[in-house]
Amino acid sequence: MEIVILPDAQAVGRAAAARIAAVVRAKPDAVLGLSTGSSPLGAYAALRERVDSGALDLSRASGFALDEYVGLPAGSEQSYAATIAAEVTGPLRMDPARVRVPDGGAHDLEAACADYERAIRDAGGVDVQLLGIGANGHIGFNEPTSSIASRTRIKTLSERTREDNARFFDGDLEAVPLHCITQGLGTILEARRLVLVAQGEAKAAAVAAAVEGPLTAMVPGSVLQLHPAATVLVDEAAAADL
Ligand code: GLP
Repeated sequence: MEIVILPDAQAVGRAAAARIAAVVRAKPDAVLGLSTGSSPLGAYAALRERVDSGALDLSRASGFALDEYVGLPAGSEQSYAATIAAEVTGPLRMDPARVRVPDGGAHDLEAACADYERAIRDAGGVDVQLLGIGANGHIGFNEPTSSIASRTRIKTLSERTREDNARFFDGDLEAVPLHCITQGLGTILEARRLVLVAQGEAKAAAVAAAVEGPLTAMVPGSVLQLHPAATVLVDEAAAADL
C-alpha cells in the first residue's frame, strides 16, 4: 500500500485528481469508481480545474457510485444520485448516461443489487476507485462486521454513520434512512486501483486502524491491505495516529 502524507486537504484533492487523470489519459473510456460524502470533494474540485482548462476530457469515461440510501423520496437532494449529478457528472462534464448509482428506490432491491454487480462486470470492471473512509472505518457503506467477500447488497446503517450523516439532513437524525445499498468489500477490491482520501483529525483513528491495524471485519477499510494497487492520501491531521 502506498501512503502519502500531504500538508493539507487541498493537496490531498490535487494528488487524488492527478492519479485519476493519469488513468484516464492512458484509457479515455476508463471506468471510474465514484464516492460521495465530503472526503472526495477536493478531488472533484481538482478534476474540474483540469476539465475546465481542457487538460482532461471525461466525456468518454463512465462511472459507478459506491452506494445509495434506500427509500428517500424520488429526486431527494440528499440522495447520492443527486449528489453525483451535482458534484461529478455536471461539473466534470461526464455523460450522465454512462454514470450509474445503485437504485435505492427499486421495487425489488435485491434485483437492483444483482443488476448493479452485472453492470460493473459488463463495463469491464472499475479502473480506479476513489474512496473516503468513515470515522468507524467503513468504506462505501460497508459498516464494521461486513464480510471481506461481500458484494453489492442492502445494508442497515449503523447508528454512528446515521449520526455522522445527519448533517446532510439539516441535523435531523430521524430523516436519515435506516438502510442503503452499497458495493461490497469484494466488489471494491476488484477495482484495478484504489485511491482512498482522508482529511482532518476525526479520521486519524480510522486511517491508522485501516493502514496499520490488523486486517479485520471490524475495520472495513483494512481490506485495502489486500489490494495490490492501493494508495492512501491523507493530510497531516488524518495522519496523526500513523
Ligand atoms: C459516507 C459514505 C462513504 C464515505 C464516508 C465518509 O457515509 N457512504 O462513501 O466515504 O461515509 O464520509 P465523509 O467523507 O463525509 O466523511
